[in-house]
Amino acid sequence: MKHTAKANVNIALVKYWGKKDTFWNLPLTDSLSLTLDQFYTETTVVYDAALTKDLLFIDDVEISGSEFNRVTKYMDKVRNLYDIPYYARITSYNYVPKKAGLASSSSAFAALAYAATKAYNLNLDNKELSSLARLGSGSAARSIYEGLVIWHEGYDHRSSYAEHLTNMDDLALVVCLIDETPKKVNSTDAMNRLNDYPDLKELWLNSTKDAFNDMKQAIINNDFESMGAIAESHASLMHYIIQETGVTYLTDQSFKVMDLTEKIRNEGIPVYYTMDAGANVKILTKKAYVDKVLSRYEKLSKVVVSYSGTGVCSK
Ligand code: PMV
Repeated sequence: MKHTAKANVNIALVKYWGKKDTFWNLPLTDSLSLTLDQFYTETTVVYDAALTKDLLFIDDVEISGSEFNRVTKYMDKVRNLYDIPYYARITSYNYVPKKAGLASSSSAFAALAYAATKAYNLNLDNKELSSLARLGSGSAARSIYEGLVIWHEGYDHRSSYAEHLTNMDDLALVVCLIDETPKKVNSTDAMNRLNDYPDLKELWLNSTKDAFNDMKQAIINNDFESMGAIAESHASLMHYIIQETGVTYLTDQSFKVMDLTEKIRNEGIPVYYTMDAGANVKILTKKAYVDKVLSRYEKLSKVVVSYSGTGVCSK
């Protein structure tokens, strides 16, 4: 009754921002992401009949408080869905800064969903595993898969899942680590504010639907410039909306990296930015251009170069 899993983070090119159901964690829209090869979580789940509650250790520290509550509530959902009668000892190592807008919850809950079911000898298919990971963190639904992934918003637990779209092996994501400390407003609290702003919600719903369809078409056409342009304007709109709902994630340093990206692009090199719920900026480009631009980003921040990564697996 023990299993260890490894999952990579994914970064959305068309974002998930807003829920239509908080218990089942159903998103307002479809989204589309790239799984990375550089940032990941390894998690071991051991079910133990002698335990009277779950135990959680992250990076060798025993966790209590809200972080523990989130995980044990998640485990309750897993236990209910699959009739698992045991509490678990959960040991997790993050090879990614936590809660800093680097999608650490995507790798964390994808690894936990996989380890928690495998440890009980359940062999879920990827679709079911994706729905299960979604219950912990929406973006985790996408970390089950390699490469480019779409998450269907769905209308209930089973119909809201992600699937592999395709691989584009020449993609690169230059991650500019501007701030690795946990963000002040977590993504769930921030995105739920959208419900208080119906006009912004409408704007977000319509523009995300368009961005999703246009992005899929650009991928089918292998049109990298359109992919980048859609990802960049979509991320900018998300941050405009976040700002309008009273939360600020981007810093002066984020804007410097964004300005540099526009400057490099005006020189004819295809680089495009995207940002999540944090100050860090990720630059979407192609492998062939990484060496040309790296030193310029390194002048502004710590940088990690990442390529397309694999889906969740056993360790
Ligand atoms: O999965 P969550 O609840 O951490 O939300 C992720 C939200 C964004 O990273 C901003 C967008 C996304 O689609 O990953």
